[in-house]
Amino acid sequence: ASLSEWNTFGFNVTADQLVIITEADQLIQLESLLQDKPQPLLVLGGGSNLVLSDHLPGIVARMAIKRWEARVEGDDVLLWAGAGESWHQTVERSLKQGWYGLENLALIPGTVGAAPIQNIGAYGVELKDRLTRVEVFDREQLGFRLLDRDDCCFGYRDSLFKSQMPGRYIITAVEFRLSRKPSVQIGYAGLQAELEEQVNPTPEQVFDAVCRVRRRKLPSPDVLGNAGSFFKNPVVTAEQCQSLHQMEPGLVSFPDASGGYKLAAGWLIDRCGLKGYRQGSVGTYSEQALVLVNLGGGDRQAVEHLAAHIQREVRERFGVELEPEPRFYP
Ligand code: EPU
Repeated sequence: ASLSEWNTFGFNVTADQLVIITEADQLIQLESLLQDKPQPLLVLGGGSNLVLSDHLPGIVARMAIKRWEARVEGDDVLLWAGAGESWHQTVERSLKQGWYGLENLALIPGTVGAAPIQNIGAYGVELKDRLTRVEVFDREQLGFRLLDRDDCCFGYRDSLFKSQMPGRYIITAVEFRLSRKPSVQIGYAGLQAELEEQVNPTPEQVFDAVCRVRRRKLPSPDVLGNAGSFFKNPVVTAEQCQSLHQMEPGLVSFPDASGGYKLAAGWLIDRCGLKGYRQGSVGTYSEQALVLVNLGGGDRQAVEHLAAHIQREVRERFGVELEPEPRFYP
């Protein structure tokens, strides 16, 4: 089976076996098959945070479970969405219903089920700020479970599903707490600038502004293969941040909850002269150096090579280590 349309880098990837999961119960059968015949399993959402090898061994299970159930609780709405729902459509659809809270997360590629894995976030809002529970299939206990938000160990681009227990749970649905009363988050610098003229923007206006900023800065995977930000924004100590500021007065940094400072990785890469840099079939995006793009015919090896080059340049110039954000598989 070919997966070139199922990874946003657009790599030419093949798999031994592809199954499509439309019902949660299929996971029970899948797991018993895997116990009879042990082999690797990749659960695939939109394939928007993956760097895949040319050939994937074992089974690739594309998550396509649909669900949309809302319950009103005072001013709030509790919404269960299936893991296979498109993320952006979920944002749009909830906004149209007048259920607010997801507007800052517009246009993020991928599915609802993949969103908790890296705790997607943008323009001042993270998924964990809106998520209440996650329904999972527990591959160890062979049953379905509900995990509360606190069980999920969410951090910056991190969760239980990514770090502590990768592979144990398959996410089948996510519950959100949304609000019927608009309350917008417009603190993020780039967003505030975009909303300049509006004093009290509506959630719809915030949604439109986020879409405009993203369309300007981030390439659409349909046009140019990519996996969003390729590195996490690194956190450094206050001392390190101060000495970097002396060396580079334009350094972009933000206080981090840890007491240190988060640096804009895109700025560091840009400052190394690597914005719009090309290395054969891959490169960095001309409008956002943090995004690695497939210029045509790229593959995992080319991306790894480019990523290592960027890491080396940033390390040599700033003494800062960049950590890749997408998952490499296998
Ligand atoms: N910058 C540059 N040059 C560049 C890129 C960025 O100077 O080439 C500067 C910008 O001018 C800005 C700062 O760096 O002052 C931050 O840039 P931006 O607002 O574009 O955000 P980011 O930190 O690069 C993060 C997330 C994005 C998310 C945006 C908006 C990470 C790793 N990335 O990017 O998430 O959309 O903030 O909230 O945290 C993703 O995870 O895939 C992703 C796209």
